[in-house]
Amino acid sequence: MASVSDVLSGLGEHRLVPVVVLDAAADASGLAEALVSGGLPVAEVTFRTPAAAESIRVMAARGDMIVGAGTVLTAAQVDEAADAGASYVVSPGLSRAVVERCGERGVLALPGAVTASEVMAALELGVTTVKFFPAETSGGAAAVKALAAPFKDVRFVPTGGIGPKNLHEYLSIPAVHAVGGSWMVPRDLIASGDFDEVERLTAQAVALAGREALV
Ligand code: 3PG
Repeated sequence: MASVSDVLSGLGEHRLVPVVVLDAAADASGLAEALVSGGLPVAEVTFRTPAAAESIRVMAARGDMIVGAGTVLTAAQVDEAADAGASYVVSPGLSRAVVERCGERGVLALPGAVTASEVMAALELGVTTVKFFPAETSGGAAAVKALAAPFKDVRFVPTGGIGPKNLHEYLSIPAVHAVGGSWMVPRDLIASGDFDEVERLTAQAVALAGREALV
């Protein structure tokens, strides 16, 4: 299994984390193929549906993707995710139980933090990269910049309300490690099996992120 620091660097290299909701594990393989073909071998599979663990298993078994679990709320879900092969665990907020279980299981924890107190609580748990969620309604890029000022060593993964129109606002911030979002993996397109369109949206997102890197 890849080390926690390799997983973190991998996410930072790709700069985008597709936040996936799979209604059926049968769609996992087609989705994985579309993401890889679109140039983004990364997925955060959310525990919002019963298909999550099996979908992670299918995607992780390929061996060519950075597969994580999202919407992880409990230590038991960390175990489910890790058993399925997830290499990182994303939570909407900060849970000591989740972060500690991630440490025990050797998977990267990316808990949510949107205030200075939450960031300090994350630092106390040894976490220096946090999900900034929900990004747009928590003050957006301006809030990330303001929060980054006192926390020089903290990196952020803003997620929530981000798409092609505002992606650049976030990726241009040095403290932003990667940006999460579902715009390239719409739930309805996955459910209807339209993986060509998912691949097109993914390739478009990758191109946009790459352009940002050149600015
Ligand atoms: C998440 O759980 O991270 C969000 O639902 C993703 O937000 P988005 O759908 O607005 O991209």
